[in-house]
Amino acid sequence: MEKNIKILSIESSCDETSAAVVVNGRNVLSNIIASQIAIHTKFGGVVPEVASRKHIEAIAGVVDSAMKEAKLTFQEIDAIGVTYGPGLVGALLVGVQYAKGLSYATHKPLIAVNHIEGHISANFIQYKDLKPPFLCLVVSGGHTFIVYAKDYGEFEVMGQTRDDAAGEAFDKVARAIGLGYPGGPKIDKISKEGNENAIKFPRASFHDESLDFSFSGVKSSVLNYLNKMEMKGEQINKADVAASFQKAVVDVLVENTIKACRIKKVDKIAVAGGVASNSCLRKTLKEVGEINNITVLFPEPILCTDNAAMIGSAAYFDYIKGKRATLDFNAIPNLKLGE
Ligand code: KG4
Ligand code: ZN
Repeated sequence: MEKNIKILSIESSCDETSAAVVVNGRNVLSNIIASQIAIHTKFGGVVPEVASRKHIEAIAGVVDSAMKEAKLTFQEIDAIGVTYGPGLVGALLVGVQYAKGLSYATHKPLIAVNHIEGHISANFIQYKDLKPPFLCLVVSGGHTFIVYAKDYGEFEVMGQTRDDAAGEAFDKVARAIGLGYPGGPKIDKISKEGNENAIKFPRASFHDESLDFSFSGVKSSVLNYLNKMEMKGEQINKADVAASFQKAVVDVLVENTIKACRIKKVDKIAVAGGVASNSCLRKTLKEVGEINNITVLFPEPILCTDNAAMIGSAAYFDYIKGKRATLDFNAIPNLKLGE
């Protein structure tokens, strides 16, 4: 019988301190997440300095809890995986240094994981039989990518945002209409009471055959609309603004993803990242997928937002390929996919 590979993984790229134990890249024994959202809400967004300090305070306890819940000792672990980019440098460094310390003390190999690859890998946890090739739409607070997953750990970026990330646009628009931080879930919730056809916001597309996105135009258009209404002294309907904005973002995400499927002739889309929790995106992509005979996969919400289990999954596929990091590797805040 093949040996079960148990990986302890650590994630600290933004405002969640997380540690997990994952077996063979698919089975989660523990996935502890200490969220800092309550602290950053006071400032209306993530404050990098505060994030680093909170990671330092939380990391030892989070790792210990993950080990305890998995009922394993460090000696029973096969490797330690850690996110080394992209993300906030001060936040990443906390996870990277902690993982290095653990690796040195326990003599367990280290695996440096790309955060975006982690988001994609969340689908391997959710769907135990999922195998590449498939198309992946990665939509998070910092990134928006259409990726062709050729094989485990092999990715081709087919399209990406040229300005704001999808989640960033949700957060900025939420702030403008006074919904607070983090905006994505709040826009999602209030949109259920609104009319998505109430206001016509633009859907940006490029003239060439590009699958790239731009969300700064729709964001500016919402801000202009709010200004105009204020100048006219008219009341805004927050639910209508939120629903119309959300639909404009979802429409372009869906259109470009389906186009990418046709180009690569694949019939499977796996969605990843925090915005993958969005109910309008889930519904619309599933419906359009059905019409086009494409299966659409979404991880459960806890695996969509930042968590260490997804990092443990990505680390496993690197582990079995023999990839190892040495103790001199560093955090790379602007790490690209496939590096
Ligand atoms: O993947 P993630 O946890 O962190 C990054 O790597 O960026 O994504 C966080 C982003 C935030 O912008 C948040 O507003 C957005 O995901 N988000 C949502 C929803 N839940 C989280 N956006 C739209 N609808 C949601 N339900
Ligand atoms: Zn993320």
